[in-house]
Amino acid sequence: MGLNMEYIQGQTPLDETELEGLLIPTIATRGELDEFEQQNIEQAIQWLIGRRLTAEKILTEQFVMSLHKRMYGEVWAWAGNFRQTDKNLGIDKWQIPSALKALLDDTLYWINNKTMTPDEIAIRFKHRVVSIHCFSNGNGRHSRLMADIIIEKVFGKKVYTWGAGNLVYQSESRTEYLRAVRAADKGNIEPLITFAKS
Ligand SMILES: Nc1ncnc2c1ncn2[C@@H]1O[C@H](COP(=O)(O)OP(=O)(O)O)[C@@H](O)[C@H]1O
Ligand SMILES: [Mg+2]
Repeated sequence: MGLNMEYIQGQTPLDETELEGLLIPTIATRGELDEFEQQNIEQAIQWLIGRRLTAEKILTEQFVMSLHKRMYGEVWAWAGNFRQTDKNLGIDKWQIPSALKALLDDTLYWINNKTMTPDEIAIRFKHRVVSIHCFSNGNGRHSRLMADIIIEKVFGKKVYTWGAGNLVYQSESRTEYLRAVRAADKGNIEPLITFAKS
């Protein structure tokens, strides 16, 4: 396989089938992989700049999948496709479409009825979508970009800073981030909102 990657806490291991979807055969290390993914994500961010997107457009299965494809499509063959295997994190693979549909409908309802503050809506969406874990990998970064899109395009506010550190590698920021994620698992969304704005 050639790829012997170490996984840090809170990251999803890839299985053999998914490693086979690597589109750039010269990638040999975890660091190189991260770099290629980061470049691809920057293309997705470029695509978003100045683009007018409504809540009705963003909160669709089609948008959620196509954003993942834009973020990782140059690196992974399975980018933009729902995962075909069960993970230690996330729900049963067969339940992904229905769980996502319920989340998209709920979020559109929260927005239209101003059920919560914009931050609560964006961050609750982020936490629920990463908990579903639609994709084989890249869910954390995808969920954070989705929250940025909601807060910026729907509510006209500034995107989040997400602790201003690197969340992909083991770091103080990541430890704090995962602490906030686990608080959200227990129903307390405030630490994740505070973290996103820090
Ligand atoms: N206990 C948890 N509950 C919900 N989400 C979690 C939990 N632990 C980790 N996560 C999320 O899963 C992400 C890791 O999934 P992964 O698909 O590997 O994303 P990425 O490759 O972008 O880091 C973390 O960044 C975090 O957002
Ligand atoms: Mg990962």
